[in-house]
Amino acid sequence: MAIKRVPTPAGDEAWLVTGYDQVKALLADRRLGRGHADPDNAPRFSTSVILGKPHKATAEEENEKHAWMRRMLTPAFSAKNMEAMRPRIRQLLDNLLDTLVEQDQPADFHEAVSFPLPVLVICELLGVPPQDREEFRSWSEAMSTINDEQKSTRGFANLWAYMSELVARKKKNPADDVISRMIGQNPDAREQEIAQLSAGLLFAGHETTVSAIDRAVVLLSLHPGQWRALKNPGAVPAVVEEVLRHRSPLERRSGDSGLPRYAMADVEVEGTTIPAGDLVLLGIDQANLDDQHFPDPAAFVQRTPNPHLSFGHGFRFCVGAPLARVELAETLDALVTRFTAFGLAAEVSALSRRTEQLVGGVAQLPVRWTEA
Ligand code: HEM
Repeated sequence: MAIKRVPTPAGDEAWLVTGYDQVKALLADRRLGRGHADPDNAPRFSTSVILGKPHKATAEEENEKHAWMRRMLTPAFSAKNMEAMRPRIRQLLDNLLDTLVEQDQPADFHEAVSFPLPVLVICELLGVPPQDREEFRSWSEAMSTINDEQKSTRGFANLWAYMSELVARKKKNPADDVISRMIGQNPDAREQEIAQLSAGLLFAGHETTVSAIDRAVVLLSLHPGQWRALKNPGAVPAVVEEVLRHRSPLERRSGDSGLPRYAMADVEVEGTTIPAGDLVLLGIDQANLDDQHFPDPAAFVQRTPNPHLSFGHGFRFCVGAPLARVELAETLDALVTRFTAFGLAAEVSALSRRTEQLVGGVAQLPVRWTEA
């Protein structure tokens, strides 16, 4: 059965959908949304400000706001623009690897590379001045805490206040960055709206990418054949897709989690009716392990095609997918170019998990290396 009732981290109940075909269809179903007619009494996924609670909106209001968001963001994060960022991303990555190799072995890859890289890249794209980036990083971490509502709310409030000020400054003095371009192309948009959008990007693009980079290191350490295969021309993109699909032993999420949505009308799944107002968790991780679409799903191999749902599907498909793919590909290429041997310096079971974060992942990733 691809649908069942499960408890959420907030202690409420939700429908968890797990089959690939069902998850894919529901990702693209506009009867499921983020809004709710009665948000205060709606079942909650978590106590985080991000994806924790619905907002009050009808399906029409939500569609209108969503279409505006896509119009604002999609051009800025196009595959072409992200390709143009590739050399700069590599430069940022090489600088971070320089600081890693200055340390004694084993050193913490999470702290030195995976955590800072995506935030540096987003700051660069948005035009956040270098001296503010450390604060940015701490707000991002606070904001996606799932078990401390105050911390998460404070992180979001700080980030939003900072963003509002940054947008106001860029309105006066535009530069060559995404925020200035959004303002230029939409002179009627309110500063607050652009600030909110920019703050949301940090959440959407930070922890998700950090955990994918960490996962790449863990999976390649556990599968040395794939590490060696990375040296073959053209192998990197296929390994990136498999890293995105694979659910590593690191994941915080139990088998009972997924992307939260609310039914905005009664929706039928495999003969079960999900009543309007109920919380639905779209089990992307479980869908990516469906053996109807991924033979031997636990194997970490190069698959063609690899139709994973890690970036979602349909009208909400991840705006940052081209950027995340470039960041992951550059990381793998930099590692395999720079090191003849590279991998985890601890048992996976000994790594400490970030159970309090929405996206999960590890708190540290001790690695050893041999430079080429
Ligand atoms: C490996 C890294 C990433 C993963 C796994 C990921 C995953 C996802 C998923 C599953 C969705 C769909 C959410 C839904 O259907 O409700 C999504 C949406 C989104 N992502 Fe990503 N993402 C990643 C990186 C990024 C980056 C780097 C950015 C931008 C800088 C970004 C920006 C967004 C935005 C703005 C949306 C909302 C799209 C919409 O609602 O239409 N993501 N992402």
